[in-house]
Amino acid sequence: ATIAAIVNNLGSTLGACGDLNRNVMAPPAPFKNRPEYDLAWEYADNVAHLLRPQTGAYYEIWLDGEMAISAEPPQAVRDALSRNGNGTIVHEGEEPLYGDRYMPRKFKSSVTVVGDNSVDLFSQDLSLVVITDKKGKLQGFNIYAGGGLARTHGKDETYPRLADAICYVNAADVYDLVKAIVATQRDYGDRVNRRQARLKYLLADWGVEKFREQVSEYFGKKLTAPKELPPFKYEDFLGWHEQGDGKLFLGLSVQNGRVQDKGSWKLRSALREIVDRFDLPMRLTPHQNILFYEIAPEHRAEIDAILDRCNIKPVEAIDDLERRSMACPALPLCGLAVTEAERALPGILVRLRKQLKRIGLGNESFVIRMTGCPNGCARPYMAELGFVGQGPDAYQIWVGADPNQTRLAQALFERVKDAEIETTLEPIFVYFKRDRQTGESFGDFCDRVGLDALREFATSYTPPKRHERRRVRIQDEIYLRLKAASDASGKPMIDLASEALAQYLDRLESE
Ligand code: HEM
Ligand code: SF4
Repeated sequence: ATIAAIVNNLGSTLGACGDLNRNVMAPPAPFKNRPEYDLAWEYADNVAHLLRPQTGAYYEIWLDGEMAISAEPPQAVRDALSRNGNGTIVHEGEEPLYGDRYMPRKFKSSVTVVGDNSVDLFSQDLSLVVITDKKGKLQGFNIYAGGGLARTHGKDETYPRLADAICYVNAADVYDLVKAIVATQRDYGDRVNRRQARLKYLLADWGVEKFREQVSEYFGKKLTAPKELPPFKYEDFLGWHEQGDGKLFLGLSVQNGRVQDKGSWKLRSALREIVDRFDLPMRLTPHQNILFYEIAPEHRAEIDAILDRCNIKPVEAIDDLERRSMACPALPLCGLAVTEAERALPGILVRLRKQLKRIGLGNESFVIRMTGCPNGCARPYMAELGFVGQGPDAYQIWVGADPNQTRLAQALFERVKDAEIETTLEPIFVYFKRDRQTGESFGDFCDRVGLDALREFATSYTPPKRHERRRVRIQDEIYLRLKAASDASGKPMIDLASEALAQYLDRLESE
């Protein structure tokens, strides 16, 4: 009944956990004046149709044979499904692409646009990047393949890997190319050892050139080199934005994706009231957030008032550490979790912010992600600071990915207990503060200096002695001004007061 309810409400769990193509992600932004975004959605749907199992068994089992979903794929997708481009079709069973053995392992895909890495494209088995001409007309796609994150502690033969740029393909040929990549993994992926069965290991084993040759054999044509593209950027689309057709969209930050009411903080009630009042469509984002769109500008103030009444902070008031962070469900919801993530991260972020302020990095922010086991559901290996559950109350700490998720992190410390997170990270933050280049992010810094230097610095680091506390009485009014200045600047009060007094005393002495 649960699955029937999901399907009847226009969702689907078809193939959601199988060894086949699962979800196809697309950037969540509902821009109406940027045709490439519409194209990304259209092609994400079409690739999902192309790679969906053809069996009717799902509907027979869960819905008494009734197909609740009536959306038919476009003719181009149906033609591509039945085209046998050099062996992409197998003639066993009812599945032309999957045969009776499906894929060696799960397969995850995304479609995005040039410059937008909201889908973490390098972490996917297959990614398509929409390339248009200046007028927004579709030309073709850059194709990336062989990304994947899951690993197992203590087994070095398992590792996270970034997708490689494989080729550029014209729009007319894109479905045949996608089928050729799926067929290559279907026929050459490792079916003996499930730990080595993802496409990333085939690419690592063969190298990109050999992979291209095999894909090109199934494709029936030579592959074209990928196009040079500008860098990809992290996008979360939070806050109010113009949609491009006079209407607005609003991105709401949902910490770790958990929609609930808790005391006077009532996210769930706010979402329900907004939907009931304005009947707005919603999109879930790859960063565990929610976008409302198709909002008439005259409703903006009312929506803000609902959010304010439910104590939902506007995005500008959310700490950037929180805004950019993610945790997986872990305990108590996930049977594979070895420690906490969703429930632990919010407290850890508050502690880290306090620590950063103390070190003089109060305004600093970077991408932090945490998971309860090394499968990596919240993509911690793409974070500037990643916590990967390693045992009860213990984490492996990863650093060095870039703020835009185009470089992998590396494991820096093992089995760090929750209570030791601050002492373990203190030398790394101090080193960062001392030696960073102008504007350099935490992840870029860690990558530049390297794991050896970070570890060496940590080993030789002696924390500054806590100074003996001396008390000076000040007037209430000065205290309040000092506190306000400290909140505004992110500088601890002791630093501000010392600086101000030092300046004043210098002046007295020089007079
Ligand atoms: C609580 C139930 C969940 C379970 C049992 C689960 C299980 C797994 C497993 C076993 C893997 C490793 C795949 C491999 O070995 O190749 C994995 C990876 C992953 N999962 Fe989950 N997962 C869960 C929830 C989620 C959710 C809610 C999301 C996001 C919507 C998610 C996204 C991912 C991602 C991004 C990866 C890493 C990328 C990859 O290598 O596939 N998972 N998960
Ligand atoms: S990463 Fe988190 S959600 Fe994914 S399998 Fe591990 S504990 Fe479960």
